[in-house]
Amino acid sequence: MSSEFTKTLFFYFLLFLKLASSPALAFTYLGFGGANLSLDGISSIASNGLLQLTNTTFNMQGHAFHPAPFSFKSDPVGKPLSFSTTFVFAIVSKNPKLNGHGLAFVISATSNLSTASPTGYLGLFNPDNNGNQNNHIIAIELDTIQNPEFQDIDDNHVGIDINGLTSVSSRTACYYVGSSGSFQNLNLNSGEPMQVWVDFNSEEDMQLNVTLSPVRMPKPHQPLLSSTVNVSRVLLDSMYVGFSSATGNAPTSHYILGWSFAMNEERAEPLDYAKLPPLPLDDAKRGTSKKLTILLPLALCSLLLLVIAPIAFVVRRRFKYAELLEDWELEYGPHRFKYKDLFQATKGFKEKELLGVGGFGRVYRGVLSASNTEIAVKRVSHESGQGIKEFIAEILSIGQLRHRNIVQLLGYCRRRGELLLVYDFMPNGSLDKFLYDRTAPNLDWNGRFQIIRGVASGLLYLHEGWEQVVVHRDIKSSNILLDSEMNARLGDFGLAKLYDHGADPQTTHVVGTIGYIAPELGSTGKATTATDVFAYGAFLLEVACGRRPLEAEVPAEQVMLVDWVLDNWKKGEVLATTDRLLGNDYSEAEMEMVLKLGLLCSHPMAAARPSMRQVMQFLNGDAAPPELSLVQWSFSNQYRVNSSVTISTEIVSS
Ligand SMILES: *[C@@H]1O[C@H](CO)[C@@H](O)[C@H](O)[C@H]1NC(C)=O
Ligand SMILES: *[C@@H]1O[C@H](CO)[C@@H](O)[C@H](O)[C@H]1NC(C)=O
Ligand SMILES: *[C@@H]1O[C@H](CO)[C@@H](O)[C@H](O)[C@H]1NC(C)=O
Ligand SMILES: *[C@@H]1O[C@H](CO)[C@@H](O)[C@H](O)[C@H]1NC(C)=O
Ligand SMILES: *[C@@H]1O[C@H](CO)[C@@H](O)[C@H](O)[C@H]1NC(C)=O
Repeated sequence: MSSEFTKTLFFYFLLFLKLASSPALAFTYLGFGGANLSLDGISSIASNGLLQLTNTTFNMQGHAFHPAPFSFKSDPVGKPLSFSTTFVFAIVSKNPKLNGHGLAFVISATSNLSTASPTGYLGLFNPDNNGNQNNHIIAIELDTIQNPEFQDIDDNHVGIDINGLTSVSSRTACYYVGSSGSFQNLNLNSGEPMQVWVDFNSEEDMQLNVTLSPVRMPKPHQPLLSSTVNVSRVLLDSMYVGFSSATGNAPTSHYILGWSFAMNEERAEPLDYAKLPPLPLDDAKRGTSKKLTILLPLALCSLLLLVIAPIAFVVRRRFKYAELLEDWELEYGPHRFKYKDLFQATKGFKEKELLGVGGFGRVYRGVLSASNTEIAVKRVSHESGQGIKEFIAEILSIGQLRHRNIVQLLGYCRRRGELLLVYDFMPNGSLDKFLYDRTAPNLDWNGRFQIIRGVASGLLYLHEGWEQVVVHRDIKSSNILLDSEMNARLGDFGLAKLYDHGADPQTTHVVGTIGYIAPELGSTGKATTATDVFAYGAFLLEVACGRRPLEAEVPAEQVMLVDWVLDNWKKGEVLATTDRLLGNDYSEAEMEMVLKLGLLCSHPMAAARPSMRQVMQFLNGDAAPPELSLVQWSFSNQYRVNSSVTISTEIVSS
């Protein structure tokens, strides 16, 4: 017992010695405001903390190093130590067709690289020393020019360089999506911020991994480059770490937004993107001031200005921030936003802050200055006639609903002719972007299945979880928003009612989107939970097959997604309709269930569709979905007839 204790004590003593002998060997910069970096060339740190390695002046270089060197070896002749680093960068070209040279993360024996060439050598080498063993430089290049001299593979690649610019390993910029997905291309020169991880493990055969991804995404499961590099000869006892870049003859700015580094550790501290400084707004958009020709004597002019300006200012201000506020709204206190605050939060509803344009209006991103919270503001044009009071009361009471699959409504504001609704900001935007926008990462099946269940859970809550049945009326991928953890959240519910108030009783306004509108809705105009289930069915097929319910540019038998899936189901080949981007990387049982549920929910007869409660049970595996009876499914005919009806009502309503 006591010997065991001594052993344990001895172990901790050794551990203590090990810890005590290695000084603090890690750092994290979330922006570089006040950072003690050693800068040279044209590199600079902006007042907001953004590190700018180069600006748009031709043929210049810039370097930024951590001020103190690190020991990369346990002893002067010993083995190299493991390290890990991650950083966020952006390459912004004045002219996107003209590439600058790119930038590099550098480990170098010296922090004085002033003899490097300011052009194609990334600020690292010059024609005389490129490839020289005495350089003692390891670099990870983010190269945006194809230079045949260095056997570059293309003009958009990442490479590992040892002492020279001919990479020991390189690959076109791309990143791995999902847990067992595929690689997706990235454009280094896009002006968008991206993140790089560099991990070196000295124990496992000196493996050097480089991983790339767009920002706000977790570190991909697979690195872009994974190479065994014997760095024993390159690393000296004392080495500097930092960044290097050169402009050459294309006006390009190279930025570093944040950086963390850890020596002898598994991994560098993750970077919280929300805490990094923003990139500067496009210089080109700055307006040019117009010169006025003044005819009146200057003195008279200034006198007039002195009198008029304050009045004009007050009048303009009142007009600019004017809002509608009636007595009945006073009870909504905290849910009532001031127009002025929303105006300022969205920088005056600038185009740049526009998140999207939906069926109900334009949505802007904003930051409330008082609380520093991010919001989404939807501007709905609407004449506030009769019914607005009931509408506000209803939408706010629905807004009280709290559910993890529902976008939280924070409040509203009214102006003449428009209503502004304030929601929680959803950092990952809407689902359709992930399904159809080729620049967004592909969603793997697990991610999709989680979203499918999330939407079902949110809809079930609206249908049954509250004292009053809430019909969403517009389920589709562009109305499914994704929070920071990629949970699905329903937005826009209840809004459709706005169109009912004060509507001409002679015309039926169908709110919804073609392809998601249930046949009976087209003829009766009455939205029910069953019409929501129908739209949810179209959404299920959409997510599983990776295409919209109606598509023109496909063979005739595939135009209507539901028909195509049904045909394949009958032939016993339903898996042929799944999204090609998924490959074979999905659970066949789950996929078949989702496709089957999609068909069940799309049944032309409302009564034959399951309820959302049943859908949830099927998805959770608590019950098996009923067999599809394929006998009397004259789906298409009935659907087509009615869809032409819905097309015309759609046009009437918009
Ligand atoms: C780039 O930075 C250098 C040094 O700070 C400065 O002299 C030059 O004017 C800058 N160029 C531009 C286009 O801002
Ligand atoms: C910056 O770092 C250098 C090198 O470690 C050190 O000598 C210097 O005192 C530091 N300056 C400040 C202001 O911390
Ligand atoms: C960097 O090296 C150059 C050439 O070797 C030398 O002239 C210059 O003084 C050095 N700069 C610093 C800051 O040490
Ligand atoms: C490099 O990537 C491979 C493949 O994902 C992984 O097995 C290995 O552990 C990684 N090595 C380091 C040092 O991160
Ligand atoms: C790396 O190179 C050094 C010196 O050339 C050599 O002693 C060592 O065995 C090499 N290590 C590996 C893992 O190949």
